Amino acid sequence: MTAQDDTKAYRRDIAQFEKLSAKYERMRIQAIRVQIYANLLKELENAGVNPKRILDVGCGTGVLLRTLADRYPDAELHGLDISPGMLREARAKLSEDFQADFRQGAAEDLPYEDGHFDLVLSTICFHHWHSRVDGLREVHRVLAPGGLFGLADHFAIGWLRPMFTLFRMRDRVHTPAEVESLMADAGLGAREWHLVYSLRRRYPFIHAVLADRP
Ligand SMILES: C[S@@+](CC[C@H](N)C(=O)[O-])C[C@H]1O[C@@H](n2cnc3c(N)ncnc32)[C@H](O)[C@@H]1O
Repeated sequence: MTAQDDTKAYRRDIAQFEKLSAKYERMRIQAIRVQIYANLLKELENAGVNPKRILDVGCGTGVLLRTLADRYPDAELHGLDISPGMLREARAKLSEDFQADFRQGAAEDLPYEDGHFDLVLSTICFHHWHSRVDGLREVHRVLAPGGLFGLADHFAIGWLRPMFTLFRMRDRVHTPAEVESLMADAGLGAREWHLVYSLRRRYPFIHAVLADRP
């Protein structure tokens, strides 16, 4: 894929999310997300985190943040997304019980101060980033030393690897070794991988990697 094709694909993705935003939470795919979030939160619990400032990069309509509000009621919650439509939906759900700061922006240029967060998460978004290298550098920058990054997405693992090659997505969907190398270049240390969702309970589909910011 040329750089021009890549930019086109990126713009097409964003336009698509804008279009989907109003019905996003009613789509069937939400059932998958509920499981991904539950498993991701279980791994965070196993990791013993008790975050005070959490950022969700590519937060969509804010479902993960709403789940996190229940689990970590004292944490400051922040959501960033590139799509104004997604953010409109997310803000419409703010209430007395659910307070969060939603900002529009790109993973590759995070509008937050250095070291502000002790937990950064991103679910089903990494393969949409225009530059995964720049995005990971930004995650490293906004994490405080000792902070944790939890990244859940589909990766080129097992049966998915030939599939993503077939669909010409291998340049955006990485193997664990490639992800770990990109993370290391950004100053993040991949610590552990977990399967967080299997299709039909049989076919590993979404994995999460937890990485430390030393
Ligand atoms: C598949 S949705 C996932 C949303 C949410 N994380 C979830 O788990 O349902 C991907 C989201 O990432 C956003 N997005 C895509 N590229 C982005 C980027 N470079 N920076 C920030 N958000 C981005 C899209 O607007 C969309 O809301």
